[in-house]
Amino acid sequence: MRQKLIIANWKMNLDAAAAQDFAARLRAARSGVAAVELAVCPAFPYLAQLSAALRDADVAVGAQDVFPEPAGAFTGEVSVSMLRDVGCTLVLIGHSERRHTVAHEDDWLLNRKLRAALGGGLRAVLCIGETLAQRDAQQTLDVLTFQLSAGLSGLQHGGATSLIIAYEPVWAIGTGRNATAAQAQEAHRHIRAELRRLGHPAEQMRVLYGGSLKPDNAAELFAQPDVDGGLIGGASLQAASFLEIAHAAS
Ligand code: PGA
Repeated sequence: MRQKLIIANWKMNLDAAAAQDFAARLRAARSGVAAVELAVCPAFPYLAQLSAALRDADVAVGAQDVFPEPAGAFTGEVSVSMLRDVGCTLVLIGHSERRHTVAHEDDWLLNRKLRAALGGGLRAVLCIGETLAQRDAQQTLDVLTFQLSAGLSGLQHGGATSLIIAYEPVWAIGTGRNATAAQAQEAHRHIRAELRRLGHPAEQMRVLYGGSLKPDNAAELFAQPDVDGGLIGGASLQAASFLEIAHAAS
């Protein structure tokens, strides 16, 4: 039985005061969603603060990105060990905004990041998903196959709970247009089959859905047999809606 995992991706939102307020609300409500695993990914400057605010609250703190090298002349970058230093236990890799708009990261860089993160003891969430043009051209499943095989290449198998996949169709992120439950299930089932084919313990691994996930569509998406939780952007900026989504998963 895979425990549902709900991750807040705040992107470049929420300042120190807002993060503190969110953490307090989450602490207060945590016991009400005990059956669900929770994580919050703030911007880099607030990782240490959030780790302290959520200490012993059973909420993981994650980063939105990491650099694959351990140390050196990499201006502006942050290493795996630095993330661990500030209490971070999880990291997002290859979010669609990093692939397509912010940094144009390719699958080979993402593979290096993933290997560095897992090798350094972080849990890693590899984000994959097709663009609207790719979906319209019926390339969705091929795109997912490629992103998985490139992203996971050379990886040691067996990290069932430390490697997490997030299916995030690019056209659904921040648009208010979520994948239907059937579209999500089709993609998730395919992802799990590919994980199995690549030698990973697919039945134990979590595959999260992300893309305009909200309190009013969460229950239907989470009811799909291969949807193991969510990666939430816009609806994670308010503790109340994040918690509503967590309730839908519990
Ligand atoms: P959204 O973002 O929930 O605002 O669509 C999801 C994500 O980018 O992870």
